[in-house]
Amino acid sequence: MRITFFGPPGSGKGTQAERISEYYGLEHISTGMLLREEIRSGSKLGVRIRKIVESGHLVSDDIVNREVIDRIERIEDYLLDGYPRNLSQAKRLDRFLEETGKPLSGAVFIQVPVEEVLKRLTGRLVCACADGTGFSSEYREGDICRICGKPFVRRSDDSSEVVRNRLDHYHNLTMHLEEYYRGRLLSVDGVGTVEQVFQRIMRALRPWA
Ligand code: AP5
Ligand code: MG
Repeated sequence: MRITFFGPPGSGKGTQAERISEYYGLEHISTGMLLREEIRSGSKLGVRIRKIVESGHLVSDDIVNREVIDRIERIEDYLLDGYPRNLSQAKRLDRFLEETGKPLSGAVFIQVPVEEVLKRLTGRLVCACADGTGFSSEYREGDICRICGKPFVRRSDDSSEVVRNRLDHYHNLTMHLEEYYRGRLLSVDGVGTVEQVFQRIMRALRPWA
């Protein structure tokens, strides 16, 4: 199975992608995580990417297309999380997949209203070792991470001004994917407990599994 998850920031893409990819044995490829890795590496490119991510804007298509295509070239089954994020990325991905004869099974759209997204993101505390993914409380012991011993902090792009930019890009660019993927799109209600949303996605995915 080759699928992509898209939805607003904070809709639970990372949380659900981790569980679904583990269940189906898919490689979980998150462009947000790949970009944060590049930032942590301290490379010149990482310094450029940091400025863009921390202002809530989108990193250039060339950079993210290359990151993703380099990885999926060598694998059969994967779950893309947060990619594609605009029409040009979606078309580039499809062109590449047509060449390889391994098209995407489809796209999962996780729908969560803005008020809920704002509540989740402004309340989120993460530790770098969990990369801001998953239920942070699993790793927390007081304000310290049980795995690496470092303190929990806000993700650097979760301030209200930056979240506003991220939401603007979502509404102006990413939302068009709903139309683009028509006919190979599963829309899932992302409000509820993590387990409830997981079960909904599992049910929806059955035809592609
Ligand atoms: P990225 O890291 O992908 O961030 P995002 O899409 O803005 O979304 P988040 O990761 O914040 O949220 P999520 O939907 O994964 O939800 P999560 O599971 O974490 O991208 C970061 C940046 O990188 C972008 O802004 C851009 O600059 C750049 N970038 C990335 N991809 C790019 C691309 N393709 N092109 C160009 N630039 C790109 O959950 C959020 C919180 O809610 C957590 O605290 C979680 O514990 C909690 N939660 C999850 N599910 C539930 C639930 N059911 N109920 C209650 N709380 C929940
Ligand atoms: Mg994420």
